[in-house]
Amino acid sequence: MAKVSQIEDPQFWRAGAISIVLVMLIVLIMLTVDSLAAITVGGSHVPPYTVINQKIGYKLESSRGIDVPTIGEKELLFQHEYTPAEAEALIDKGKLVIQSRACMDCHTFFGNGAYYGPDLTKAWLDPAWEGWKGITGAETRAEAMTRFLMDPVKYRTWGRTMPNLHLSREEATAIVAYLKWMAAVDTNGFPANFGQISVNQ
Ligand code: HEC
Repeated sequence: MAKVSQIEDPQFWRAGAISIVLVMLIVLIMLTVDSLAAITVGGSHVPPYTVINQKIGYKLESSRGIDVPTIGEKELLFQHEYTPAEAEALIDKGKLVIQSRACMDCHTFFGNGAYYGPDLTKAWLDPAWEGWKGITGAETRAEAMTRFLMDPVKYRTWGRTMPNLHLSREEATAIVAYLKWMAAVDTNGFPANFGQISVNQ
């Protein structure tokens, strides 16, 4: 019997398919482990929840060509220093309020959601809060955000108005903590040029 050439041998193709699947599986596992190290809380890109006790800013990182958050000196939120457990509970609550009120119907978080309102990923860093401090009569950015969230119709600044969702002070406070923590996440420069957003945009 004549020997079949290797290319016609089904065994050859089967072995090829199996080895490619195995190699890709290993690559996938490696990428997953690598991503988890970046995206878990306390990982390379996501700060621990206690970051809400510190000042969040941003700077241009020229080697990457993008704006990245900076974590500075102590700057308490609502005049309280949160322990790791307290900070986690508050931010968890903020996330639940955001989910239950479907803020994503109008806003985006990390780019997910709708575009009726502004993206909220870096909302904490919006220079407009300085103006909102005057409008709401608040002494701090956190208090101005809380007052806006509790009555966005009264303090509207935009062509479009955010409806009053009747958030309690407790709910608004938790949202503010969530937004402050989110602003400290290194999103690889997303949204583009957030560091250059001016008050008039
Ligand atoms: C029906 C649409 C809608 C829903 C739902 C909504 N928003 Fe808004 N939001 C807007 C609009 C429009 C603006 C811009 C209003 C303005 O500046 O006066 C806004 C502005 C904001 C701002 C100010 C952002 C900035 O930096 O300028 C924050 C913070 C915010 N919303 C948070 C929330 C949260 C948290 C929820 C859910 C609890 C929510 N919004 C639900 C429409 C919505």
